[in-house]
Amino acid sequence: MTRPFPDGFEWGTATAAHQIEGGNWNNDWWAWEHTPGSGCVEPSGDACDSWHRWRDDVALVRDLGMDTYRFSIEWSRIEPEEGEWSRAAIDHYRRIGDALLEAGVRPVVTFHHFTSPRWFAAYGGWKDDGAADRFARFCERAARELAPVLHRACTLNEPNIVAMFGYVLGTFPPGGKDFADGQRAIQGFCDAHRKAVDAIRGAAPGVPVGLTLSMNEFHAVDGGDTMVEQIRSVMEDPFLDVTDGDDFFGVQSYSRLVVGPGGPTDPPADSLVLPMGYEYWPQALATTIRRAWDYTRRAVPILVTENGIGTGDDDLRVRYVETALGGVLDCLDDGVDVRGYTYWSLLDNFEWAHGYGPEFGLVAVDRATFARTPKPSARWYAEVAAANAL
Ligand code: GCO
Repeated sequence: MTRPFPDGFEWGTATAAHQIEGGNWNNDWWAWEHTPGSGCVEPSGDACDSWHRWRDDVALVRDLGMDTYRFSIEWSRIEPEEGEWSRAAIDHYRRIGDALLEAGVRPVVTFHHFTSPRWFAAYGGWKDDGAADRFARFCERAARELAPVLHRACTLNEPNIVAMFGYVLGTFPPGGKDFADGQRAIQGFCDAHRKAVDAIRGAAPGVPVGLTLSMNEFHAVDGGDTMVEQIRSVMEDPFLDVTDGDDFFGVQSYSRLVVGPGGPTDPPADSLVLPMGYEYWPQALATTIRRAWDYTRRAVPILVTENGIGTGDDDLRVRYVETALGGVLDCLDDGVDVRGYTYWSLLDNFEWAHGYGPEFGLVAVDRATFARTPKPSARWYAEVAAANAL
């Protein structure tokens, strides 16, 4: 049985600057990768050399027949020192935008995807009082320059992950382990989002702006419901609360979390655990879409800005996306306003502290030559997009 998606449903794929460009030595992640004890498996190095090979990436996205390509602009290249702007870096991203539009692909631009300039980190990063204004100033500048090529703007990518991993769990830069700092970072991010929305709307009128959030399906066991609410009150709700009036909300979902009274616990013994360390659970996408939609009182359209699987088994990738998309169709049947789906990722790339192990790409990248080779899943996904049906 063929199940169609609505007319105008946007099919896309995504990357992030630091994960593919290479040589981003001027940001906090690069420093973290080279900090002894950080837990990073390997440094990002040349990544996929997309800083130079972006034309190859644009061609891949075009050949997949995508409607959109979500990529991020690297703040540390555009504003390498505070208040010092790089014409060349802005022009670089402008050229990518122009090339995409020429290829019939609409650019979805993320203004912050995990990495911050070293000078910004030196102030104390997101827990510093001035963080929101610093970010908004960057957004204003970048949005003004890139306005002609912006189809959508995502302010922050998964600020909940950065606040938790960077300030409480110590696994992302700056490696902090202080719950109060985590709360400050959450507040900093929430302020930054609101100011960024205003800045981008002012500088690029008419461009839809929204936030993206990492969301889990939560499965409470042994009376873990209170703990689930506690986790949500830190990881989801404060961020959902600042999306009022936004043009879309970006759901990013990969798995589910089993939660007992004391916190996250092991998934069921018979579950398939992926290289990322979490459970194979494609149903999470529909669950999280519904939660975001209901929580925001069905007022903010949903865009799936990331969903995917890191695996060397490309058949499993197809199965995962097929199930996840079935869930999206169920949501649409129930009247949820889902505007599009974005597969993470276009390329096998630098998966943060995990290094180059997990393979999320539709396209393999040779680590020695940077040669790009589409996988069978890329063809399958292109066919689904072309048919606008599952
Ligand atoms: C994130 C980021 C991506 C990841 C992806 C796979 O969610 O961590 O947005 O940069 O690569 O989610 O883990």
